[in-house]
Order: sequence, then structure tokens, then C-alpha cells
Amino acid sequence: MSDRLWWKHGVVYQIYPRSFMDSNGDGVGDLAGIRGRLDHLAWLGIDAIWLSPIFPSPMKDFGYDVADYCDVDPVFGDLAQFDALVADAHARGIRVMLDWVPNHTSDLHPWFRESRASRKSAKRDWYVWRDPLIDGSPPNNWAAMFGGAAWELDTETRQYYLRSFLKEQPDLNWRNPEVERAMHGVMRFWLDRGVDGFRIDVIHRIAKDPELRDNPASESPGPGWGGQLHIYDENHADIHGFLKRIRGVLDEYDERAAVGEIGLRPDQVATYYGKGDELHLAFNFALLQNGWDAHAFGRELALFDRAVPPEGWPDLVLSNHDVPRHATRYDDPALGDARARALALLLLTARGTPFLYYGEELGMRNGEIPPERRQDPLAWTLHPKVSRDPERTPMHWSAERGAGFSSGEPWLPLAADWTTRNVEAQRADRGSILWLYRDLLALRRRTPALERGTWRELPTPDGMLAWERRLADSRAWVALNFAGEERSPQLASAAIRDGLRTTAGAELPADASLLVLGPCEAAVLIVDA
Ligand code: GLC
Repeated sequence: MSDRLWWKHGVVYQIYPRSFMDSNGDGVGDLAGIRGRLDHLAWLGIDAIWLSPIFPSPMKDFGYDVADYCDVDPVFGDLAQFDALVADAHARGIRVMLDWVPNHTSDLHPWFRESRASRKSAKRDWYVWRDPLIDGSPPNNWAAMFGGAAWELDTETRQYYLRSFLKEQPDLNWRNPEVERAMHGVMRFWLDRGVDGFRIDVIHRIAKDPELRDNPASESPGPGWGGQLHIYDENHADIHGFLKRIRGVLDEYDERAAVGEIGLRPDQVATYYGKGDELHLAFNFALLQNGWDAHAFGRELALFDRAVPPEGWPDLVLSNHDVPRHATRYDDPALGDARARALALLLLTARGTPFLYYGEELGMRNGEIPPERRQDPLAWTLHPKVSRDPERTPMHWSAERGAGFSSGEPWLPLAADWTTRNVEAQRADRGSILWLYRDLLALRRRTPALERGTWRELPTPDGMLAWERRLADSRAWVALNFAGEERSPQLASAAIRDGLRTTAGAELPADASLLVLGPCEAAVLIVDA
């Protein structure tokens, strides 16, 4: 299949580099570690890896505060190790995406240091500086997403700078053409090194209202982020122009792609595809907010499927480094594992590019973080409850000390069940969730309807969800039982040609109409067209 596009028909695996594999015993994952584990990823059958930021950083926001866009932080390795990782990944048919953070830098980035040095600095306008109001207060009412006002006073030069996140993350001023040029240069630096694309951080925030108007109050008014409607500080129409030019840079190269992080409603997210001339993919985060409810999953899948323009292509996300792992969100003393297995099937058989988060192939749960081991700044700026540490605990490779992740003390504690829920144990168990992911990935790859077919919901009894994927004479039916007891999805009659055992390990019947699913069980059937 020569028209197979890795970012469209393939599957992307997100690596949080601090937590994937530590090669030097300092307790923090690194590039050499990732390189040493590529065989696991090749065996699993994914098409691409996305690395959360690896650039030099003071790590106030663990790499999302970049101090140099064109180098590697020593904790992760160096450029030579990066090149070796890309070469080894490519040799295995695995593409490499980097996490590009265009909205803000670290306050220690040389650009910001220069900008901050004086009001007359040549780079003053590379960031967003404004005078205080007469009473000394910030220029407007905007709130930072990570707590406090979005403005930080620089006491030396007596102006405020804009920071949409932490005070150590000043926002760049993309309206200055020098900034845009410099950032295009950053993209080319990595594209020239062979990087296949980027995950773009909070792209819906790179341009704001030039007049800096106050945001109106939300339905629950208050000083924080949630207290206002974000009319003027995000989703500005000018972002689409910036994106078209970003796309232009990518299109100078072969088969490179960008996926954008846009924290907006699905209909707004869909506008970031442009007419196939902006993002290749825009994350659909709707599934991160659903309850365990067949109807809600069906509704969100249908909504994004329809919202994405014809030139675009949807995607599917259940977990990432910012939200509790889905095996934890839907955990249940009796049915937690069954649900995690059913969701693996959903993710890999609905329409769109699936994004897997490291460890989800093991059914990994969130870890427990004792207060003295907290790392995420949100635990302090917002509330310990919103800390993202629990979903960032180290990968479980084996039952050896340190879960085979590190010979030292891991930067975050291991999740509770690492001695049994690990790669080594699950590879030895043909019925494990790890094998289910691998089997689903293989089925997806050999079934054109699953990789690229249309999506249409099929009627089912309550508490169930079913759909058809179809491409020419390739046809797949998928059924999920969200209920706590046995049910039949009442599919039509059709001979089953291919498929996997159900997520509970049961054989498929000879005819689709005979399929019965146990509690939280799911199945994919390749049927006669
Ligand atoms: C994105 C990242 C998140 C980070 C934030 C600020 O939402 O996913 O981890 O903290 O941007 O850069």
C-alpha cells in the first residue's frame, strides 16, 4: 500500500521521556533509554513515537519551559544521541515526532533574558510587554491557566509580561515577524535532522486580541481561569494565518506532519485543519471527559467524525501526560481490567489516528504520589488534586528492581502493581492486555476498512455501542458492551471472515448476529461485504 501515510493510517505512541527508560541510573529517563527499548515498540507494531519535550529546560514545567529550542537537555542526552535514536527508529520503520512549544519559552531562554534586560532591548517586542495600569495593576483581567494573573511584573523595567501558564513561561509575541521567522528556523533545524513531524503545544494560544480586551465573566465568575470566558486570550482568528505558514514549512519536506493541541470545543478544534492547509491532525480531547457511558462515547465519536472537514482526518486520544490515565478514570474493582481492554479496542478500531500513551498497552493505572515526592508545579500553584504526577510514573518493564526502568531511585515512585503489571510478565502471557494491543494493531494494519474506512454507528440495545467501518469490499463491525451484564448487540447476519477473540478472550461465533458480549466486553469482526 504505497499511499499509506504514517500519520493518517498509522498509530502514534506518546513517550514521556523522563519516565520511559533510564539508561544511566540517575532516575530520569533519557534518549539512550528510549533507543534501547525501540524493539518493544517495533514488536508492538506502532508507526511513530512522539516525544514530550527533550530540549534544554529548567524543568519548571518539565520541558514545556524551553530554554533552547535547538538542543537536547543533558538529562536526556545530546544531539548525537538524538540522531542515533532517529536513525534506529527509522531503521525499524518508526517515525519520530517532537513536541514543539511555540506559545512560550522558559524565562531563562536567551531571547527572554535579552527581552527583559531593558525596555530598549532589540528583543523587547519578542514577548508581550505592557505598562501597569495607573493603580499599578496588570493591563487586563486575563488569568493564567496554571493559577494567578496572566501578567507578571518585572520590577526592574516596571512593565508586565504576559504568561499564560507559569510565571517562568513568558508568552512569545508571534505578531513580531522576527519571532515567526526564528520559530520557522527551529522547525527546519529539526526537520533537517530527519524529524518526521511535531506535536504542537497549545497552538490555539499563539495569538491573542491585539487590543488586550478584558475577558467577560463566565457563569461561575471568579479570579481564576474558570471565572472567565476565554474570548480574547485564545483562539484568535489570526492563528490560522500563522498555521498556514507553519504548514508551508512542513510542506517543504516529504511526508512530515503536525498534530496540534487545542483545548477548545470539538467544533472549534476542527477549524484548525483549515482546508487541508493547516494542521494534519488536531487532537480530539472529547473522549478524555466522558463518563463510562455508551451513549456519550458514541456521541463524541460521531461529533468529531462530522466536524473534521473532508480534507482532514480525525484522531483518537484516551490518555496523555496531562490527564489521569484512562484505566484509572474508568477503574472499577470488578470490571476495571475489562473496561481497559474494551477501550483498547475502541481506540484502535474507530475512525482516526490513534494516540497511545506509554504504558496504556499494559493497562497501567495512575501512581500514588506521597506529598514529599510531588514534582508537578500544579500541585503548588493550583491544588495537589490536579497534580499530573500520577499519570507520569515510570514505565514498568519487568519485576526487577526499579521495574527495569532505572537502576537508581526513579524521579517519581512506581505505580503500585509494577511487579505484576509489566512488559516482561505480559509478553509471557498470551491473554494479556499487551497482546490484545499487539493483535489489534496487527488486525488494523491488515484491514483497509479499519485503517481508512468510513465510520457509521449501528443501532444497538441500551448500554451498547456498535459501528461499521467500510472501505470498498473491506468491512468491519465493532461492538462494545458498556453494561455490567451480558448483552447481545443484535448485529445483522453476516459471515465473519477475520477478527480477534473478544476482549474477554472468547472465540467469535460463525455469524455476527450470534455475538453476545459479557460485562464490558468488546469485539471486532471482519465481515463479508
Ligand atoms: C500543554 C502541555 C502541558 C503543559 C502546557 C504548558 O498543555 O501538554 O503539559 O504544561 O501545555 O506548556
